[in-house]
Amino acid sequence: MIASKNILVTGGAGFIGSHLVKHLVAKYPEYTVFNLDALRYSGNLENLKEVKDQKNYRFLHIDITDLDRLKEVFARHSFDFIIHLAAESHVDRSIKEPFIFSHVNILGTQNLLHLAKDQWGTNADKRFYHISTDEVFGSLEETGKFNEKTPYDPRSPYSASKASSDHLVRAYFHTYGLPIVISNCSNNYGPNQFPEKLIPLFINNILNNKPLPVYGTGENIRDWLFVQDHVQAIDCILHQGKIGETYCIGGNNEWTNIALIKELCAQMDKKLQRNNGASEKLIQFVSDRAGHDFRYAIDSSKIQNDLGWTPTHTFEQGLSKTIDWYLANSAWLQNVTTGKYQQYYAEMYNSK
Ligand code: NAD
Ligand code: TYD
Repeated sequence: MIASKNILVTGGAGFIGSHLVKHLVAKYPEYTVFNLDALRYSGNLENLKEVKDQKNYRFLHIDITDLDRLKEVFARHSFDFIIHLAAESHVDRSIKEPFIFSHVNILGTQNLLHLAKDQWGTNADKRFYHISTDEVFGSLEETGKFNEKTPYDPRSPYSASKASSDHLVRAYFHTYGLPIVISNCSNNYGPNQFPEKLIPLFINNILNNKPLPVYGTGENIRDWLFVQDHVQAIDCILHQGKIGETYCIGGNNEWTNIALIKELCAQMDKKLQRNNGASEKLIQFVSDRAGHDFRYAIDSSKIQNDLGWTPTHTFEQGLSKTIDWYLANSAWLQNVTTGKYQQYYAEMYNSK
């Protein structure tokens, strides 16, 4: 029998967090899942409608930079696991507004670490699990892959803030014995992703016959991971990962941006019953992103060998599921690009 536990998920209203919360609530009825989220532009309670009335789900509308409110939460509840996802998460925004990234991603993480330390001490039954990114490792050339031993070399304000938060997490482990674990994963895609990241932005633009702005030559490479595969990896690491360890998670699925965009365009043409090539006509090569990392790729052998996790979706399958979700949820897409989200969406879109 699985023991009852209180799990705090931060950022549970966002893209990855909402998939994780839904997974935990459904799979572990004996756990109580507390979703702590400030509902910034990418946080959306619509992502959680399936669990909002479940007995083992609670929502806490709190900002992780607000230490006083966090103290109240930790005074009221004892947590067994903290899975920390709340963050500013988009590189392009970090280029425009770097300060908020340091504030939320570094200070917010330290607030949580400190309260976890005060509540737990060195209790090895607890876990502070930080969800981080492969972008902390910098940029690869044509060959090689990131692994757990790759030195940090962050190059955007976003990745620098995530690298700083990783360092703080390890500092709390070494200095105070806080039971921590970290994973660094590659680019996620799937349903419910705010349409500022490449795949959902381009799906939305194709639906609206808007240009598809490809940065630079389109030859940059990313290793794409379907969000449900990531959630399975998080579950493995939460329950079986070793205290103090890092795990790299990738999709083993490298695509140049331009090849990915062409695959997306072809699938969209088919699904929308448009002429073959109609979506590709929307491609526009635009100025490159400042400091654009050339290539990310992950060697996931540690999590595969030690914990038995492996990604199960091919990119074509995952992309097809993703597009189908956006087509079936046009109201969601409409809501997050208009109304209270309009300012955020327009900021990104108008800058292209
Ligand atoms: P997202 O932007 O969709 O979600 C972030 C969530 O954090 C939102 O619900 C937002 O409201 C919340 N949040 C932001 N600031 C907050 C604050 N001050 N206090 C409380 N909540 C706040 O991001 P995502 O893509 O789901 O990413 C989740 C985590 O995974 C992030 O830590 C990100 O760095 C990491 N990550 C993401 C990817 C990816 O490809 N999306 C890859 C690697 C790592
Ligand atoms: P993105 O989804 O922003 O993720 P990240 O920067 O964290 O990898 O971008 C993925 C790739 O797509 C990246 O190489 C930048 C590129 N890109 C474009 O070419 N055009 C766009 O409008 C966006 C958002 C991204």
